[in-house]
Amino acid sequence: MSNQALQNDLFLRALRREPVERLPVWLMRQAGRYLPEYNATRKRAGSFLQLCQSPELACEVTLQPIDRYGLDAAILFSDILTIPDALGLGLHFVEGEGPRFHRRIESAADIQSLPGPAAMESLRYVADAVGLIRKTLNGRVPLIGFSGSPWTLACYMLSGGSSGDDFLTARKWMYSQPVLVDELLAKLVEHVSAYCQMQIEAGAQTIMLFDSWGGLLPASQVSRFSLQPLSRIVHSLRAARPDIPVIVFVKGGGHWAEQVVSETGCQAIGLDWTVDLGRVRDQVGRQVALQGNLDPAVLLGSPAEIRAQARRVVESFGTRVSGVGHIFNLGHGISQFTPVDHVHHLVEAVAEASTQAA
Ligand code: CP3
Repeated sequence: MSNQALQNDLFLRALRREPVERLPVWLMRQAGRYLPEYNATRKRAGSFLQLCQSPELACEVTLQPIDRYGLDAAILFSDILTIPDALGLGLHFVEGEGPRFHRRIESAADIQSLPGPAAMESLRYVADAVGLIRKTLNGRVPLIGFSGSPWTLACYMLSGGSSGDDFLTARKWMYSQPVLVDELLAKLVEHVSAYCQMQIEAGAQTIMLFDSWGGLLPASQVSRFSLQPLSRIVHSLRAARPDIPVIVFVKGGGHWAEQVVSETGCQAIGLDWTVDLGRVRDQVGRQVALQGNLDPAVLLGSPAEIRAQARRVVESFGTRVSGVGHIFNLGHGISQFTPVDHVHHLVEAVAEASTQAA
C-alpha cells in the first residue's frame, strides 16, 4: 500500500520543501457542516460520534471535499477527543455547546488509574477508516492522519469538555499541581504516539498534531507543558518512520514559531492567521515547511475579497512562483457558515496566484 504511486504529490513535495508547479491547498475541517453532502451522511450515521466510528461513513465524508473541490490532500475524518473517550471519560456532544465528558480528571488517583497505551486498541475503528480511505483514494492525493497534542487533550480532560474560560481549570492545575500535570502529559505522550503509529501502519502518509490550546500558555510554561511532550512524540514517530513528515500546529503560538521548530523537531508548522508567513519564514529559516494561514472569516466575504486575501497570503510567504515549502491552508477550521461556492473561488485564486510569474 505505501508504494502505491501518487497521482498528485504536490502536498508531500511541498512538505519536503521541493519546488512545486502550483501551491498545494487543503483546509482544516474540510469535511464539515458547511457541506450539504456531509450533513446528509452525518444524518444517516445518527450522530457525529457514530460517523467517526463507522469506517465506511468516515471514508465517505473524507472524500467529499476532495471530490467537490479537487483539494491536494485528504485528512482522516475523526476527532481529537477519541483518545480521552478510549480512556473511559465518555465523550458526547451537546448541541450548540460542543464536546463534553461524562467524567473528568479530578485527582491524582484519576490520573494514576488511566489505562496505558494498550487502550488505543479500542480505536481500531480509526485505523480501519485510514485503510479504507487509502484504498478508496487509490493514489489520488496523500492522506493525513492526526491527533490532539498532550496539552490540548489535557485541557479537555481536566475541564470536562469545551471551556468558556480559556481552560481556567487546566491552567489552575498547571500552577497548583505541576508534577501531576507532567504525569498526565507523560501518559498522553504514550497514548498519542501509539495512536499515530497505528494510523501510520494503516496508511497515513503524514501526521498532523493539533495543539489548539498551546497558545493559552505563558511563554515561561510553553516548553514544559506544550513543546516537550510534542517533541517526545515527534521523535518516537520519526525514529520508527523517518519517511513520514509531522506537522505541528500550535494555535496562538505563531510568535514562538522558532521555538516550536527547534524544540519539537517537526517537518512543518501550521500557523494561524495572526502572523505574517514571510516574517515567520525569516525567523525559522529554511529547515521546515509552513502551512497556513488565511483567516477562515475571509470565506464569509465576497468572492473578490476571497481572491484578494488568498493572493495576499500566497505573496506573504515570499516566493510567488514555486513557493518552496508553503502549503496553503486556513489559519483554523473552516466555518460551518461558509457558502460552498466560496471554496471554489479560494482554490482557483490560490492556483492563479501561485502559478503566475511575478
Ligand atoms: O480537518 C478535518 O476535516 C478532519 C476532521 C477533524 C474534526 N475535528 C472534525 C469535526 C479534525 C482534525 C478535528 C480536530 C479537533 N477536534 C480539534 C483540533 C483542531 C481545532 O479545531 O483546533 C479540536 C479542538 C476538536 C474538538 C472538537 N470537536 C470541537 C471543539 C468540536 C466542535 C463542536 C461544535 O459543536 O462545533 C468538535 C466537533 C467536530 N469535529 C465537528 C467536525 C466536522 C463538527 C461536528 C458535527 O458534525 O456536528
